Amino acid sequence: MSTKRGILVLDFGGQYTQLIARRIRELQVFSAILPCTASSEEIRAHQPVGIVLSGGPSSVYDKDAPRCDQKALDLGVPVLGICYGMQWLARTLGGKVERAERREYGPACLRIGRGSKLFTGLPPTLKVWESHGDHVVRVPAGFHITGQTDNAVAAIEDAEGHFFGVEFHPEVNHTECGAEILRNFVFEICGAKANWNRAAFVAETVESIRRQTEGARAICALSGGVDSTVAAVLVNQAMGDRLTNIFVDTGLLRRNEFPETLAMLRDRLHLSVIGVDASERFLAKLRGVSDPEEKRRIIGNEFIAVFAAEEKKLVALAKAEPVKFLVQGTLYPDVIESVSIKGPSAVIKSHHNVGGLPQDMPFRLIEPLRDLFKDEVRQIGRELGLPEEILVKQPFPGPGLAVRLLGEVTPERLATVRAADAIVTEEIRRAGLYEKTWQSFAVLLPIHSVGVMGDGRTYGNVIAVRVVESLDAMTADWTRLPMQVLERISSRVVNEVPGVNRVVYDITSKPPSTIEWE
Ligand code: XMP
Repeated sequence: MSTKRGILVLDFGGQYTQLIARRIRELQVFSAILPCTASSEEIRAHQPVGIVLSGGPSSVYDKDAPRCDQKALDLGVPVLGICYGMQWLARTLGGKVERAERREYGPACLRIGRGSKLFTGLPPTLKVWESHGDHVVRVPAGFHITGQTDNAVAAIEDAEGHFFGVEFHPEVNHTECGAEILRNFVFEICGAKANWNRAAFVAETVESIRRQTEGARAICALSGGVDSTVAAVLVNQAMGDRLTNIFVDTGLLRRNEFPETLAMLRDRLHLSVIGVDASERFLAKLRGVSDPEEKRRIIGNEFIAVFAAEEKKLVALAKAEPVKFLVQGTLYPDVIESVSIKGPSAVIKSHHNVGGLPQDMPFRLIEPLRDLFKDEVRQIGRELGLPEEILVKQPFPGPGLAVRLLGEVTPERLATVRAADAIVTEEIRRAGLYEKTWQSFAVLLPIHSVGVMGDGRTYGNVIAVRVVESLDAMTADWTRLPMQVLERISSRVVNEVPGVNRVVYDITSKPPSTIEWE
């Protein structure tokens, strides 16, 4: 089984890259994504049985167009290029790519030619989804055209059955038989085995952590959320009492979150957890800081400082060897939005999980969930027997309420956003929407607005309410809440939270907005 002998996706920055990996995992074959800049050694280390080159926004003839290590084509495993990936493959192997006279976006009709391995068993015409402005005008020597649209060469293969290219996107739902095309590539062409499932993932991950950490100790940064809890339980299975979990009260948590979470982790999950009240030092460091990225950076640094201090105490107490590893529940969307490589997805925010960590950190990271999406992590949590109430918990950002109050973090402003947040959560739960929405929370804005309360003029705070639906946080849409729910939230917030005289509802999707306001 497993994370080896799967399909590797090399990312040229395409918007659907993560979908490709996901579709392959849905076929029960492991699939990981590496930036196209990965070296052939890194690629080889994954021992893939096949490689997919993703789409991307560039043109292959651009001066700084992203490219792969060409040795990736010599690993002896089949390669499928999709859109930009096909153009790069064709050009690199001696073909010619040009700007298309007519760009193709959206649906197109694919006519399948004879003798294609990739399209085995499929009907002669398919409706496919295109999104490109370039096309292959001359195929490399030894290749033949296996599919065409009205405008362009839409699919190519080489005679040896080694290289494949499709101009359209088999990974999107709009492409007819897209799953069958990927299935043909993964099973018939690459010979992958359908053996990636939850139990296998748990077994393999536990075994690999055991090997990686042999004899050493680790600490785990617990947040009480799904991701870090699942990561801790996985690592706990591998390391037992060589793992110490640390749950930090940053002073930026929600109402009652610290004591309740601590009790749940200790009493229900039987994890060994040290609870650290570091709220004063976090708040002191954040005093006077309004810039969102600066807040994140300070919080990331402070987390590491707290862990380093706890590690020293641990070592002194147990006279044990130093702690070498830090466990985090980083997920794939955290990674993809925080990594900047030429071409692929630019940095959107530095998530404290990933981007905000200092360079000279005294720990090596263990991130067992790095290749997964949230719903996959929830499934792994179920496999591990975690209580459902943890698994359905909405995500909460590492920097906590600091990024949900815009502007300076002060105890008073924290109290305001915390009280408003508690009301939003209560009302969303009462309406039976907590588990149906991805996230629901309050944001304190850095402005004041005029109001009237009693008979007097007020100049008070504004709370924005954000409720979104999403599958993986990469995209999200605002929830069309029932009017009565909005009404209750609004009236309770202005009545119960001192200093707030206005409530607004955020009706933007991601993109163009992000889910959090900072
Ligand atoms: P955005 O705001 O980028 O958020 O659309 C996507 C998802 O990530 C969460 N988020 C974070 N999680 N550290 C985290 O651990 C962070 O710094 C952070 N920023 C955003 C956010 O709540 C949403 O679920």
